[in-house]
Amino acid sequence: MLVLLGACTPTPSSCDWQSDQLFTKYDFPVGVVADPGKLQAIPAYEAIVSSQFNRLTAENIMKPDALQPAEGVFFFSEADELVAYGERNGQQLHGHTLLWHKQLPFWMEQFQGTREEWDAMMKRHIQTIVAHFRGRVTGWDVINEAFLDDGTLRNNIWQQHIGPSYLEKAFRYAHEADPDAKLFYNDFSLAINPTKRAAVLQFLKRLVGNGFPVDGIGLQMHIFTRFPENEEISRAINEVWQAGFEVHLSELDVSMNPLSREMAFAPDRELVRQEEKYVYIFNAFGRIPSQFQYGITIWGVGDGDSWIRTSFNRQDYPLLFDDNYQAKPAYCNLIDP
Ligand code: G3I
Repeated sequence: MLVLLGACTPTPSSCDWQSDQLFTKYDFPVGVVADPGKLQAIPAYEAIVSSQFNRLTAENIMKPDALQPAEGVFFFSEADELVAYGERNGQQLHGHTLLWHKQLPFWMEQFQGTREEWDAMMKRHIQTIVAHFRGRVTGWDVINEAFLDDGTLRNNIWQQHIGPSYLEKAFRYAHEADPDAKLFYNDFSLAINPTKRAAVLQFLKRLVGNGFPVDGIGLQMHIFTRFPENEEISRAINEVWQAGFEVHLSELDVSMNPLSREMAFAPDRELVRQEEKYVYIFNAFGRIPSQFQYGITIWGVGDGDSWIRTSFNRQDYPLLFDDNYQAKPAYCNLIDP
């Protein structure tokens, strides 16, 4: 049994994932972020990724700094291996992310040029990548996190040097390079912040109205056991599909320690709340019309893999499997819908 750092006491497990396949229980794709290094190094991690999910997203290796580390130098081999791994397992690949204000290569942040040269640089970045994966990537997060909480556009490098038209251009460039890929706008807090959600919806509806190819919206869903309320989550999902966009619950995890308390293991009461939250979300998503169900992606495999522990330096247990890759109550309930 592989034991990883993290919880002192493993969370209780009450079912055996080895005899089940989560994705077969749902009529929509159920995905997970996968890390190639861990797929090679940790047998239990690999076994869960290959058996429980039918879609993969790269956690980091398809971001701008990874794919174009130097200007005009594209590094595809790691991502190619992940795509090939998924194809061997019959899994789709969701591309994350073409544009973002984080994980940019240094040269891109420092790029000097006119508006036209910035536009050409952005176009080359998008089209080289999308063309490379053409036909092998189901959908792309074209733009990640372009809006602020107050509903205004973030002043990222694209906004600074190209202006707000960078968004519509990015979608058009991606579509030209792979007309069959679904194109997404992806962001956080869309389920808890109606102001931001309304601004994003209004902006994207205008783009679609003007003929730009936006297929869907990714609601990241980094949420908590006690927050937001279930009704808020349903409202957000419904507003998105009713506006005509496919819905991707793109980075789902359910944290239980927002105040960074001492939490050496996952308390039973929080595991129950977490289970209820996951189940509610899968059910709410399952009720929307199928043509709007792009899928649900879980942002990590075992609790020890979660970005939350490293990014916030806190003890937390947000995922479906514990530190030892044992199934948690949320998983056990999801496989028995
Ligand atoms: O690759 C370097 C390694 O060379 C170095 O030794 C090490 C030292 O810290 O850092 C490694 O990079 C880390 C990278 O993950 C790969 O492990 C970065 O420090 C770390 O910041 C980075 O975190 C990622 C984070 O995005 C960056 O913003 C998380 O893994 C990833 O889960 C997270 O994902 C984002 C989504 O893309 C967008 N939505 C929010 C979500 C959570 O932040």
